[in-house]
Parts: sequence; structure tokens; C-alpha cells
Amino acid sequence: MFDRTIIITGGAGFIGSHVVRLFVNKYPNYKIVNLDKLTYAGNLDNLKDIEDKPNYKFVKMDICDFEGVLKLMQQEHVDGIIHLAAESHVDRSIKDPFTFAQTNVMGTLSLLQAAKTYWESLPEKFEGKRFYHISTDEVYGALQMTHPEGIEPPFTTKASSGKHHLAYGEKFFTEDLKYQPHSPYSASKAGSDHFVRAFHDTYGMPTIVTNCSNNYGPYQFPEKLIPLFINNIRHRKPLPVYGKGENVRDWLYVVDHARAIDIIFHKGTIAETYNIGGFNEWKNIDIIKVLINTVDRLLGRPEGADMDLITYVTDRAGHDLRYAIDSTKLQRELGWEPSLQFEEGIEKTVKWYLDNQAWVDNVTSGEYQKYYDSMYRNR
Ligand code: NAD
Ligand code: DAU
Repeated sequence: MFDRTIIITGGAGFIGSHVVRLFVNKYPNYKIVNLDKLTYAGNLDNLKDIEDKPNYKFVKMDICDFEGVLKLMQQEHVDGIIHLAAESHVDRSIKDPFTFAQTNVMGTLSLLQAAKTYWESLPEKFEGKRFYHISTDEVYGALQMTHPEGIEPPFTTKASSGKHHLAYGEKFFTEDLKYQPHSPYSASKAGSDHFVRAFHDTYGMPTIVTNCSNNYGPYQFPEKLIPLFINNIRHRKPLPVYGKGENVRDWLYVVDHARAIDIIFHKGTIAETYNIGGFNEWKNIDIIKVLINTVDRLLGRPEGADMDLITYVTDRAGHDLRYAIDSTKLQRELGWEPSLQFEEGIEKTVKWYLDNQAWVDNVTSGEYQKYYDSMYRNR
């Protein structure tokens, strides 16, 4: 009945839910199986609009459950995997590195081994199959900030073509850089990337890895900078800025990441790595000021009235100074470009969080977990 069946792991999380939505809507001829353990970060409310579609199925499962995952692949005749399931928050990894090694390294290994076992049992073996692993730019470590006041970037994309389009150094993360992770999170993602490449080089598995910069947009868990700060500004709570707020991140609207994943899943070259980013560098403190102005304006407060919420706190341990992705390979080879200017993306994002306070309250209180736990307890 379906032309192909794809497992998307971590589909109930922030980026995963956007990828699931895009694939379910765009490819009615594909069956999309969302495999998610529903940790604190997984929330099926993120997918209410597509949960009844005939080409969508949710399976509550841990990627570390080798037997369960293998059985699911056999039952569903899976020919593609897009792997997003992970522990994703740097601050949590500093407190609890074991969970990160378990999910991100062992979980990815288990998923690779299950896919290998299933696909090798078929007459056509790896022919027409694809294991696509979603990783992060943090594996490359941190870039220097050689130009703290900013310089003209070497390249402009739609994301960076608004008011702000500075680069804070002349070096960027390119695909050929060596890995130099600093946090337990990025070390665990680096470990998983190495296993994915090893499965290609050793067994001939058809793998692809992409490394993306910071995503922002609807459905991001409010422990990450942008949704946490929007919510705090709304409720006039302090904004805990790590260090001096000078760290630089390269921001990409989440739907543009999902669009890149679609293009790379279908047209990317096996065994290749692609970097995904918007050439859109911002110092944290500058983004925070934009968030304050935007929330204030949308709530009818005088713009900037809440600047006094900015509270400088102890820096994150091992805090990476600057991330900046060079995504020219992806743009040149596969024709992907961000579709949204950063100013538009931030406006949409702030509006979404202000309009969806019930979603924010639900995930902040943990109510959603009680509901879905009782629903899936015995499955
Ligand atoms: P997230 O924390 O919002 O979601 C992670 C999802 O994975 C959740 O639904 C969770 O329930 C699920 N999960 C966790 N452990 C699992 C397990 N053992 N088995 C099955 N499911 C499990 O994460 P996100 O921000 O959407 O990130 C998704 C992926 O993209 C991650 O691999 C992350 O490293 C990568 N990434 C994220 C960003 C970003 O800015 N958020 C940027 C680049 C790459
Ligand atoms: O670069 C891609 C990565 O981006 C992803 O791989 C990660 O999964 C994702 O969480 C994100 O990591 P960061 O650590 O960059 O994101 P976070 O939103 O936690 O922090 C963004 C910046 O803001 C960072 O420099 C730390 C700072 N920060 C964050 C929080 C939560 C603060 O100053 N205060 C805060 O309270």
C-alpha cells in the first residue's frame, strides 16, 4: 500500500515533530513510524494535527531496546531511518553524563545494529535503504571570536539577510574539521557519529550524517534559551544569562532544518556529511534583547520595559564560545537554502509561544507525561 516505510526516531521531540509533520503531509505514499520513548522532552501534543493521518503510526519504544526495534523493523518492512532521538540539553549532560552516553552512544549503536541485522536478512540487503543520523555542530568544538564587534560574513543566506548579518570570526565549521567536543552532550553525539561512519566503512551500511546549528521555533522544550526566555519575559521572571552573554550561536528556523533533512534524505550522497546552518550568528545578549523587545511589543508593554530582567549568572562549565556553520556544500550540491529571514522567524516564534501558553504550562508542569504514561503504560 505504501511506497516505503520510514522510522523517524525522536519524532515526539522538538525537531523530530517538525520532521514527522513534514514527511506525513508531503508524502502520503510513505508510511511514517514515529519511534519515541517519550522522555521528558517527548510530547505527543506536538503532533495533534497529524496523529489521525492514515500514513502515520506512533510506537513508544526505547532506541536501546535492540530486540523491540528489530521486530518493529521486520514487521513494518522499514527501508529508511531518520534518527533524531537523543538527550539534547547541554546543561543536563553536565549533571548526568551517563544518560547521555546511554541514549546517544549506546542507543545509536543499538539502532544501527538492528537496521544492519534486518537489512542483511533481505535478498536485496542494503539496496535502496538509508540510515540518516541527525547530529550537531557542537561536535566540532568551539570557534574563536577573532572579531568581537563583528565583520561582514563571507556569504549571506535568507536567514542572515535581515538587519543583523555579522560574523564574529573568519573561521567556520566545515565538514572536514576534526571533532573536538567539549561537553558530555557533544562528546556523546560525536561518539554516535563515529559509530554511524564505522557502520558504513565496516559493513557498507548506507549512512548519511548531518551536523546542524542551533534550531529555534515552535514546540521547543522551555529549558533551551529561546523558549525559556520568552516564557520568563512574559511572566516577568529573571533571565539567567550565562557569563557575559557574549557567546555566539548560529540560529536556524526549525522548519528550515526539517526541509534540509527532507532534501538530504532523498538526494544526499551515501557516506557524506553535510553541515546545515543559516550563516546567522548572534551573541546571546543581542538575541535576548530582541526577545525582550518582541515580547513587550506583542503584549502591549512599552518596548524594552523588561530589560531589567537580564540577570548575569555563573557561566556554564566548559561553555563553547562561538559556533558558526559553513553550509555552502549543502547549498551548492543540493540547492538547499533557509526560507525564512531571522527577524520573521523570531516574530513567528515569539507569537507561537505567547499564543500557546497552555502548551508551555503543560510541559513545564509535566502534566503531559502523566497523561501519555497512563495511555502507553502497558503497550
Ligand atoms: P529534543 O530533546 O526536543 O527531543 C528528543 C526526542 O528524543 C524526545 O522526543 C525524546 O522522547 C526522544 N528520546 C530520547 N531518548 C530516547 C530513547 N532512548 N529512545 C527513543 N526516544 C528517545 O531534541 P531536539 O532538540 O529535537 O533534537 C533532536 C536531534 O537533533 C538530536 O539528535 C539533537 O542532538 C539534534 N540537534 C538538535 C539541535 C537543536 O538546536 N535543538 C541542533 C542540531 C542537532
Ligand atoms: O548547536 C546545536 C545545539 O544547540 C544542539 O545540538 C543542542 O541540542 C541544543 O540544545 C543547542 O545547544 P546550546 O547549548 O547552544 O543551546 P541552549 O539553548 O541551551 O543555549 C544557547 C546559548 O544560551 C548558550 O550559549 C547558553 C546560553 N544560555 C542558555 C540557557 C538555557 C544562557 O545564557 N542561559 C540559559 O538559561
